[in-house]
Amino acid sequence: MFDFNYYTPTKVVFGKNKDGQVADLIKEFGGTKVLIHYGGGSVIRSGLLKRVTDKLDEAGIKYVTLGGAVPNPRLSLVYEGIELCKKDNVDFILAVGGGSAIDSAKAIGYGVVNEGDVWDLYDYKKQATGCLSLGVILTLAATGSEMSDSSVITKEEGLVKRGYSSDYCRPKFSILEPELTMTLPDYQTACGCTDIMMHTMERYFTNGGNMEITDALAEGLLKTVKKNAIILRDDPNNYDARAEVMWAGSLSHNGLTGCGNDGGDWMTHKLEHELGGLYDVAHGAGLAAIWGTWARYVYKDCLPRFKKFAINVMEVEATGSDEQIALRGIEAMEDFYRSINMPTNLRELGVNPTEEELVDMAHKCAVGVGGAKGSAKLLNEEDMLAIYRASV
Ligand code: NZQ
Ligand code: ZN
Repeated sequence: MFDFNYYTPTKVVFGKNKDGQVADLIKEFGGTKVLIHYGGGSVIRSGLLKRVTDKLDEAGIKYVTLGGAVPNPRLSLVYEGIELCKKDNVDFILAVGGGSAIDSAKAIGYGVVNEGDVWDLYDYKKQATGCLSLGVILTLAATGSEMSDSSVITKEEGLVKRGYSSDYCRPKFSILEPELTMTLPDYQTACGCTDIMMHTMERYFTNGGNMEITDALAEGLLKTVKKNAIILRDDPNNYDARAEVMWAGSLSHNGLTGCGNDGGDWMTHKLEHELGGLYDVAHGAGLAAIWGTWARYVYKDCLPRFKKFAINVMEVEATGSDEQIALRGIEAMEDFYRSINMPTNLRELGVNPTEEELVDMAHKCAVGVGGAKGSAKLLNEEDMLAIYRASV
């Protein structure tokens, strides 16, 4: 077991009709002039944005709005948001939407407070010294950005997707209203469940630390999401299943399921980020498409954890050699992906990279992780290329 810091300062307001509290929450955290940031329009169609602006009008809180955050959110919109905030003296950002709107809001918040080009943070050239305060109304349970310390942005030039993490960007509050996720397309719900599970799996497949209590939380979370993903596939308006998945999403990426370990593996995410940057695929689907190949590439170096996962999470028969059990667990996970219509390779994901593109992704991925990364198995550029090639 390793030492750890656990810091989750976000006030979570969870349940039905909680968006009605948005004005009070903004006031509680000192917001007087707000940027409301959202995505491509789902919050307009659902009526949520109108409810929010009505509440702010009623409370006499001034605001400006900026929509247009796309999946794999773009740096150019971040620059636009920074200018808008500076021009209008914005002191609080409210992100209304999924991970993309939240991450874009976080990047805007960094850009307002830190001098110079905000991309320098994502390009590992400097560290943030602060971030504008932000709050969230979540409409998609997936990334955990509503409680996490990370933000992932894509720079159009060179299609480079990079994450930056610091406690400064953790939201002051997050309104988690499961009913808001009922308008999601089934595909996005399944992508979300995949991403949630992966945030815990990245922390679970390690060769360092590991605490019994953390494992029990992780395994409970994984089984809960697996079960409720199937319920939502068949009954998308099931409130309790929406609620289970939404809370699991936040817990999966606020640090809880990694306490005591070595920080996690994270290579499935890093390999996926290159796919997202280059082909603009949905993050969860990209993770599902790469995980099986990654798992088969690394499992022998992390056998006890893969065996434990197979038995405790995938509930496979604990007979035969450890390797056989581990492989059965990987197959069961891929069967689960198929059962919720997620891809298990790049072809099913709908991308068909050339050899040159595979080499380019492996190179960018290696640069992005500073050469080599991974706890289940340390992967260098050659390994990354081998995994990309095998996942086609
Ligand atoms: O843009 P709108 O119109 O809102 O539509 C979105 C978008 O098309 C739609 N949507 C969201 N809520 C909806 C809805 N449609 C109907 N009803 C609703 N209630 O869903 C689509 C996807 O939204 P997006 O925000 O892109 O998805 P997600 O939450 O999965 O975010 C993905 C981004 O987050 C990053 C990913 O890499 C990706 O760029 N991540 C961020 C993390 C973090 N900050 O901690 C960690 C993750 O590992 C991840 O990397
Ligand atoms: Zn993720």
